[in-house]
Amino acid sequence: MDETPTQTQQATDLDGATIFLHFGLMVFGVAAWLAGYGAGDYKHARHFWFSVHKWLGLGAAAFVAARLGYGLWGPEAVRFTAWVPYTPERLKMVLEDLRCLVSFKLPERAPRQGLAGLWEAFGIAVFTWMAATGFLMFLYLTPGARARGFVWLVKELHELGEWLVPLFLAVHLAAVTLHALSGDHRWRKMFFLGEK
Ligand code: HEM
Ligand code: HEM
Repeated sequence: MDETPTQTQQATDLDGATIFLHFGLMVFGVAAWLAGYGAGDYKHARHFWFSVHKWLGLGAAAFVAARLGYGLWGPEAVRFTAWVPYTPERLKMVLEDLRCLVSFKLPERAPRQGLAGLWEAFGIAVFTWMAATGFLMFLYLTPGARARGFVWLVKELHELGEWLVPLFLAVHLAAVTLHALSGDHRWRKMFFLGEK
């Protein structure tokens, strides 16, 4: 893959499967996150928000699993090994983007490159954590009583999402908004709208 620092390819680089999986993450991920703030009612006999959150969370977890599968075994050009910034060249792009931001300029990159790629990889990691701890609770948590022992520990680890999810979303959405304000409307592609 071409990794020259100044690349500014179009959003057409995002393939249909990526866009479909991203749409699922967007819809179920955001809905599960919001419903999560009510899910503390799991300890009551009536636990409406826990039930809503559980099904939305399982939906999000299914999309996370599919996204991980696609990143590990999908076409070579879209695999995590092709874009997650762990090589010196890709880390250099992240640093360049940070320098760009410090001088109040927006980095212009192909999707998943530079700082955006680093943050998107962080997002996948956060949602994987939430999906894994959530799935364990789906298997072992019995609603109607306080969680104890192992399930309590898993629940505490899951609650890190209270901060991690909004942190990821705030920066991700700020980047999308700033790009749109500067005329880069690639968000349209993520909603199956044509490019402007
Ligand atoms: C309202 C919510 C969201 C909006 C509007 C949104 C928008 C976007 C846009 C415009 C891009 C393209 C950026 C680029 O070219 O690099 C993108 C990429 C990406 N976003 Fe989101 N996003 C949202 C929620 C999420 C969520 C919940 C996740 C969960 C992990 C996520 C993960 C990613 C990832 C990993 C990419 C890189 C493309 C891919 O491999 O899927 N986004 N997003
Ligand atoms: C990717 C999927 C999921 C996301 C993004 C997510 C996100 C969240 C968030 C943000 C909270 C609020 C934490 C807090 O207020 O401290 C929460 C709470 C909770 N989640 Fe999830 N969740 C997911 C999947 C699941 C699943 C599948 C279950 C299974 C039953 C589950 C069970 C719970 C419970 C029981 C709580 C309440 C914790 C408490 O406040 O005592 N979650 N979740």
